[in-house]
Amino acid sequence: MTMDKQMHQRAIDWLNQAADLLRATLDSPLQVKQKQNAHDLVTEMDCRIEDYLIQQIRHYYPNHQILSEEGQGDVFPNTEGYLWIIDPIDGTLNYVKEKNHFAILLGIYYNGKPVAGYIVDVMNEQLYYGIVGDGVYLNHQPLLPIQIASLETSLIHGNVHLFIHNRYQAREILNHSLGMRHYGAAGLDMISVIRGEAALYLSPRLQPWDFAAGLAIFTAMNYKMTTPTGQPLDLLKRQAVLACHPAVHSQVLDIIQSTDSEANNNDN
Ligand code: IPD
Ligand code: CA
Ligand code: CA
Ligand code: CA
Repeated sequence: MTMDKQMHQRAIDWLNQAADLLRATLDSPLQVKQKQNAHDLVTEMDCRIEDYLIQQIRHYYPNHQILSEEGQGDVFPNTEGYLWIIDPIDGTLNYVKEKNHFAILLGIYYNGKPVAGYIVDVMNEQLYYGIVGDGVYLNHQPLLPIQIASLETSLIHGNVHLFIHNRYQAREILNHSLGMRHYGAAGLDMISVIRGEAALYLSPRLQPWDFAAGLAIFTAMNYKMTTPTGQPLDLLKRQAVLACHPAVHSQVLDIIQSTDSEANNNDN
């Protein structure tokens, strides 16, 4: 399915409106609630951005399905037809504690296949998008990534807990690389791979709204996003994710599979 030009333009307009609102209200008092624990937060702005995007989609595309983090989308979406996958604020902890390093993520899928992905780096006013069959853009200019030649000459991004517990041979991967960086917002960590600043991003547990935008952009640029054992991602499931430059994907899979512990490599 090729991306409809009007749908693309609308998505960009809505994302820009949402990013403007987040910047304009950045210094306003914020209601913050814990979800499962102190690291897992939701603010009224997560809900307000989600509500705004969903209202727009429902108005223009009432037959499309929506999967969204804070629960205002469809209760049991499936992959039939168009599916919009939304993370209204990716990096809510950063949004609350840093007022920086957070993003808005949107992936558009048709019959389970990526059509387009959008990541707004809100504070840098950068809109990244990838359209499958077309290409990848930063603020509407074609993106020219930094070249990645090998793991040994590259930085990597990854969830810190992976390295603490050495899941997926994370320390071994790190030892092969030049060092590790991490934003704590999956969309922005994926942007580092998209830009060629890092060879890979590895996370033990991402929800569909954390990876759907990135997966569409990676598909548009023929980069690899799989589970850490090389399996395709399930669009409706929480799972471990390896987002990787194609030049290093098979080497990283070999390192991960060299582990002897089955539990260490569980993708779920
Ligand atoms: C979180 C961030 C974080 C990742 C978590 C996500 P949220 O998203 O992307 O980097 O490690 O797994 O839940 O909750 O801030 O949208
Ligand atoms: Ca969250
Ligand atoms: Ca979120
Ligand atoms: Ca997220």
